[in-house]
Amino acid sequence: MTDESKRSAEQPSDWALYGRLLSYVAIYGLAFFLSILGFVGYSVANVLLADLTRFLLDSLGESSRMGIGLVAQMVHGLWPRGDLDAVAYARIAVPVGAIVLALVRAAGYFLGNYFMNIVARGVVHRLRTQVFDALIRVPKVVIDGYTHGELVSKLTFNVEQVSGASSEALKTIIRDGLTVLALIAYMLYLNWQLTLVFFAVTPGIAGVVLVVGRHFRRYSRRIQDSMGEVTQLSNESMHAFDEIRMFSASYQQSARFHAVSQFNRVQSLKLAFVQAVSTPIAQVLLAIALAVLFWFALDPEILAGFTPGSLVAFIAAATQLGKPIRTLTNVQSVIQRGLAASEDLFAQIDTPAEADPGEHGIDRAQGHIALEDIGFSYPGDERRVLEGVSLTIAAGQMVAFVGRSGAGKSSLMHLLCRFYAPTSGRIKLDGKPIEAFRLADYRRQIALVSQRVVLFSDTVRANVGFGQLDRIDDAQLLQALETAQAREFVEALPQGLDTVLGDGGDGLSGGQRQRLAIARAVLKNAPILILDEATSALDTESEAAIQSALETAAAGRTTLVIAHRLSTVERADLIVVMDGGRIIASGTHESLMHENGLYASLYHQGFGEP
Ligand SMILES: Nc1ncnc2c1ncn2[C@@H]1O[C@H](COP(=O)(O)OP(=O)(O)O)[C@@H](O)[C@H]1O
Ligand SMILES: [Mg+2]
Repeated sequence: MTDESKRSAEQPSDWALYGRLLSYVAIYGLAFFLSILGFVGYSVANVLLADLTRFLLDSLGESSRMGIGLVAQMVHGLWPRGDLDAVAYARIAVPVGAIVLALVRAAGYFLGNYFMNIVARGVVHRLRTQVFDALIRVPKVVIDGYTHGELVSKLTFNVEQVSGASSEALKTIIRDGLTVLALIAYMLYLNWQLTLVFFAVTPGIAGVVLVVGRHFRRYSRRIQDSMGEVTQLSNESMHAFDEIRMFSASYQQSARFHAVSQFNRVQSLKLAFVQAVSTPIAQVLLAIALAVLFWFALDPEILAGFTPGSLVAFIAAATQLGKPIRTLTNVQSVIQRGLAASEDLFAQIDTPAEADPGEHGIDRAQGHIALEDIGFSYPGDERRVLEGVSLTIAAGQMVAFVGRSGAGKSSLMHLLCRFYAPTSGRIKLDGKPIEAFRLADYRRQIALVSQRVVLFSDTVRANVGFGQLDRIDDAQLLQALETAQAREFVEALPQGLDTVLGDGGDGLSGGQRQRLAIARAVLKNAPILILDEATSALDTESEAAIQSALETAAAGRTTLVIAHRLSTVERADLIVVMDGGRIIASGTHESLMHENGLYASLYHQGFGEP
């Protein structure tokens, strides 16, 4: 009952899925048409080759039976026999016919396969780029819900599944499907009564195909999901080599990996089982059909309607059905895997991009920021991360945020960057709610150095000039590196600016990575600069060096610094103390020390100074 209702609920969405996949194919309409044309040629040539046997055999028999078959009629039409002896005639016509048909079949095979690949590769490319473009524009909340491995697996494994389905499987379906149709048509033409006997068993085969398909899809989904985990765990472990060794966690990590891989193995085996069991069942059903066929065919009355040639041709056609039917049942697993994957990919493509309702364009903001009674919880998480945060920051001010870790400082910056929307309250830039600005324009106003430095495995130039390579020259780049105290070490790298950084900046020290991130933000030259613990990995000396440089960089911009060390804080125009998602105090260093609250105690602990 539940299974039944589930199935009927699945049915319409399946059709929607096919329809949508077809719309991708439709873009390559001409190639698709040529491919079908090729496969039609292929399957018709196949049938005619069977008919050629009939022509050959009938030429040996009584001549009254000659000239009845399809090939025979064609040959006689093209080349009248005249008074040539039947065997002599066939001796020329059959070999020539065989070669011509083989050539047609070969051409059809080439056209069909090659053009279907043009379609398939096009579909895959389009899907892959669409998924990538969708993922890259999706709101942060959506990305939060996935591991990196899952995302990578979508773009690689899932897309490959679709590619398998759309190239190999589609080809098989069309080529073998057409062959089956052509063979059945030919059998009907030879003897329709006998062919109908054959059909009696067809529903059985169709039933096997359907049931098997449903199982295939279920296992494919599981395999797909577990591939995401496999990718994630491998990624994670490759990045955590040091930790795994030093915490003696190789056993633990291995165990996790083994479990995931085991699940994948079991699901793949289930799939393989269904696949391996379905083909023989379909074959046995086919053999039963053939047995029934033979029995009827050898009935004297029916036999009378056949020439020896047409009987052999009929049986040859019926036997030839075996191979395409086998591949058709087999290819189901590929198709179902592709369908399961495309379901997932379409879901990605359909995820709406970040909302961008703002209509206000802005060139360069002044940098006046107002936080009005901000409350915030992360989506899907009850806990209040921010509560009643109100603050006015004048253009050009430097404001330091201090507080214990988990106080909500980074979250507040996320809201400013419009990664999330506040649950309540409003943020204004230059007197306008920030949602009123166009997202791209708004984000251009902010240079962010986030707590977690992200570098790309690309050149130093590409990393620092990220997003603005078309607008900057080396002089500006070096200037920014200079400001971030990074110029010296970059110039000491083997290829200077052109040095390709290892995976995510491997091979640089934490401090060097941070300085590159600062240089990147400095180069953006935005009116608002946000530094989220941007100097946490620097030693006191290089921080002191950067400090003055940052002050130069901060001049003329609104700067928000989440600080963990005193030197930054003391120079700020305003210090905001946060705790438990609230602003519990604000003022200058002196006034806050005088209050003798959290700030003073954090100060005495040295803010976590080394
Ligand atoms: N993506 C997230 N989803 C849910 N909760 C989060 C997320 N990021 C941070 N938090 C929670 O928000 C609170 C504030 O974190 P955060 O703003 O990073 O603090 P701080 O930067 O002051 O150390 C913490 O309790 C943290 O667990
Ligand atoms: Mg933080």
